[in-house]
Amino acid sequence: MKVTVVGAGNVGATCADVLAQREIANEIVLLDIKEGFAEGKALDIWQTSPINLYDSRTIGSTNDYAKTADSDVVVITSGLPRKPGMSRDDLIATNAGIVKTVTENIVKYSPNAIIVVVSNPLDVMTYCAYLNANTDPSKVFGMAGVLDTARYRAFLATELNVSPKDIQAVLMGGHGDTMVPLPRYTTVGGIPVTELIEESKLNEIIERTKFGGGEIVKLLGTSAWYAPGAAAAQMVEAIVRDQKRIFPVCAWLQGEYGMNDIYLGVPVVLGKNGIEKIIELQLNDAERALLVESAEAVKSVMEVLDNMIANA
Ligand code: NAI
Ligand code: 2OP
Repeated sequence: MKVTVVGAGNVGATCADVLAQREIANEIVLLDIKEGFAEGKALDIWQTSPINLYDSRTIGSTNDYAKTADSDVVVITSGLPRKPGMSRDDLIATNAGIVKTVTENIVKYSPNAIIVVVSNPLDVMTYCAYLNANTDPSKVFGMAGVLDTARYRAFLATELNVSPKDIQAVLMGGHGDTMVPLPRYTTVGGIPVTELIEESKLNEIIERTKFGGGEIVKLLGTSAWYAPGAAAAQMVEAIVRDQKRIFPVCAWLQGEYGMNDIYLGVPVVLGKNGIEKIIELQLNDAERALLVESAEAVKSVMEVLDNMIANA
């Protein structure tokens, strides 16, 4: 199996490292536009193989997409974080330009690759990759829900003083503060979370989850990378090992949840064909209202991209 990670920055290099350490792919290509950067990161990762005893080979490439040819899966992490003074629309324009070029190059050399988008703003960058990939949307989707649920599960594990392994949860909607953690679908060792925690505490955790990305930016001055890189690698693993894992994934909706032509976080089955099934939960009225609110927020950002394309 061959996996390419585009963007050798914090998230991309971490993702490549997890893919290598866990031997999720035997060939990993790390590509970046910055001269020598991906080669340096790849070499450093490869030099951990005799220490950590694995065979997966990581190589680097400065913008040479020929090296990515015939990748089975491609993870796109290239993009700028939002800088002071940069408007949301400037960020969309810049990152959409990057994601467009990257996607075109990827599909040129790997027309059958499954594409996992990580670049922000996530939902609209996934849409951007889809517009440029010319492939089935079941093969172009975004990573956000795995990270956001991981944060939710980690916060719950801390609060309840239990293993995070035993916490299962579903979270839907966009990758932003309108995301929708779902307590009704959260269990701890099979026990509904609501039986183990006070409502006010659970609500605090839900609010903290919604702003989980910002919490780390405040602490570090840049966004997170360990959990995002591991989350993207976990999605790659589900694909290359055909695991049929159920994850919240930013997926293209065509009628599911009564929504059309939108990329939104929903639970899916991930396997060798990419998104093999979108799971439609029986949401109650309150949950549905939150999901609709989140979809409206995502749609408004997708429209910014649509308008940019129309006026280009
Ligand atoms: P970073 O700045 O460390 O790395 C980005 C890399 O992309 C840089 O090395 C840069 O040289 C490269 N790059 C820029 N233009 C490129 C191009 N045209 N082709 C190839 N490489 C190019 O940023 P970091 O922290 O790794 O984050 C990457 C992206 O992931 C950001 O957009 C960030 O907001 C997003 N992100 C998304 C998350 C999610 O849950 N979906 C979580 C964390 C970050
Ligand atoms: C995160 O959630 C900023 O999307 C990034 O950490």
